[in-house]
Amino acid sequence: MNPIALGGGFDPNTPNAARMYDYFLGGKDNFPADRAAAEQVLRFVPEIPIGIRENREFLCRAVRFLSQQGIRQFLDIGAGLPTQRNVHQVAAEHAPESRTVYVDNDPQVLSHARALLQDSPQVLVVRGDLRRPDRILEDPDVRAHLDFGQPIAVLLLAILHFISDEDDPAGIVARIRQELPPGSYMAMSHVTVDQRPQAAPGVQQVYQSASAPFIARMSSEVLPLFEGLDVVEPGVVDLHRWRPELPVVDPALEHDKPYFLCGIGRVG
Ligand SMILES: C[S@@+](CC[C@H](N)C(=O)[O-])C[C@H]1O[C@@H](n2cnc3c(N)ncnc32)[C@H](O)[C@@H]1O
Repeated sequence: MNPIALGGGFDPNTPNAARMYDYFLGGKDNFPADRAAAEQVLRFVPEIPIGIRENREFLCRAVRFLSQQGIRQFLDIGAGLPTQRNVHQVAAEHAPESRTVYVDNDPQVLSHARALLQDSPQVLVVRGDLRRPDRILEDPDVRAHLDFGQPIAVLLLAILHFISDEDDPAGIVARIRQELPPGSYMAMSHVTVDQRPQAAPGVQQVYQSASAPFIARMSSEVLPLFEGLDVVEPGVVDLHRWRPELPVVDPALEHDKPYFLCGIGRVG
């Protein structure tokens, strides 16, 4: 397995999932290897940047919704490179006292996040791997920052499609859910390949040499991740259909088959 996948060192020559995502978003925290791999992906799925922008829009709407439900604690696993409107900033717009823990297994994400996001005592950045949820949940720093006796929102946005079936994504989600007190929430988003199944092998091939493998899943494989949660309206839907705030939708997203499912579930 690639060293970065194991949370190893910084490697600019290996395409990196976080930096490719940054490139798709129009960011500058990427290297030639990332850009070359991202361009290969774009040949298979040209509309990826639109989907990724929608994912960030969903993040903002989700955090606002969660704040309105009274959530004041956020655990963002697979936080990604800092960009515009990060979780703690959106949460602070509604409730400045909100506390956020950012978790990632990528060394560059961690160093950038520590430099750019850990700008207040309410924000903590920790190294953690979603494939080992117990280590995140038992991390003393996480426990000191978040009160597990009070509701917490766990965000798993655009990360579960990097978790292989062998690592049991549904089991990971269930393990986290069991640790959360009633009134907590889990927000998740996951790419689906229903719309363009023929592109999946090519995209998987590109990510094969990257820091994290892309796992192509159909929507029928993504929906079970929400089992055990009381899913809020409008359910598990494409990103732009989750409580949209703007009436204008990019025509590239108007398909009848899912391209990137998301949803929020309450812990009973
Ligand atoms: C596509 S980015 C998503 C960033 C952000 N959550 C969003 O939705 O905009 C995926 C992030 O997950 C991280 N990641 C991938 N596999 C991971 C794992 N097993 N544990 C922790 N982080 C992981 C990557 O380093 C990357 O920063």
